[in-house]
Amino acid sequence: MKNVISEASSFILNNTTKRPIIGLILGSGLGILADEIKNAISIPYEEIPHFPVSTVAGHKGQLVIGELEGKEVIAMQGRFHYYEGYSIKEVTFPVRVMKELGVQTLIVTNAAGGINANFKPGDLMVITDHINNMGNNPLIGKNDENLGPRFPDMSESYHPSLINHAETCANKLNLTIQKGVYVGNTGPSYETPAEVRMLRTLGGDAVGMSTVPEVIVANHAEIKVLGISCISNMAAGILDQPLTHTEVIETTENVREDFLRYVKKIIETLLQ
Ligand code: HPA
Repeated sequence: MKNVISEASSFILNNTTKRPIIGLILGSGLGILADEIKNAISIPYEEIPHFPVSTVAGHKGQLVIGELEGKEVIAMQGRFHYYEGYSIKEVTFPVRVMKELGVQTLIVTNAAGGINANFKPGDLMVITDHINNMGNNPLIGKNDENLGPRFPDMSESYHPSLINHAETCANKLNLTIQKGVYVGNTGPSYETPAEVRMLRTLGGDAVGMSTVPEVIVANHAEIKVLGISCISNMAAGILDQPLTHTEVIETTENVREDFLRYVKKIIETLLQ
């Protein structure tokens, strides 16, 4: 595993003089943040040794490395989803590579359905914790002690200092944000109304189809995580309307300005 990771990371290092310690994973509709990165170089995933190969036609994904608010960053514009058929190890491989590159703080973003009845589409939610409802875990199998411990602690998987920082930034910008627990489902079907009621009972505030595997691996690798969900819709059965991917994309487009200035502020003022 270590060799494969180093080959990917050496390839990236040979393509840039930047040495970012902040990583970003940009979720559905949120990839526009990568367009704000200055002095950027972009590397399509298919050019990076050992990166998962996309089987989906027209699926665009690339690493963008450059500066955001004066800080060097590496961003994934597009992520690998478990529901696309990638193995859970493939989904999380880029996080291993980020660690090897020197990333210490990872900002993960996603679009999610609101379970908490106080939420509304367009809200931004700082993730305080997650529930792994994917029935899988990227750490299953032989553990490589060079990468992390067999039984990693997950009690502060979303780092308290980063949650505080995100709240401070929201206040500075006069932005109202939500905080809550993200439930990771495999998808690709959306939840049934009964499942949404179950997830609410279990303590979930928002539900999506990503993030959890990457956050588990980041914790294994001792990378500090900040998670931000864009509540793109209310989860099934809450409003009297069907759920569509179009709605998800439209809402993320509407909150785009808030999302951009929020994440930029977080990065600008991040103590490293
Ligand atoms: N459920 C699961 N994933 C999602 C949703 C949802 O309602 N909205 C955006 N991603």
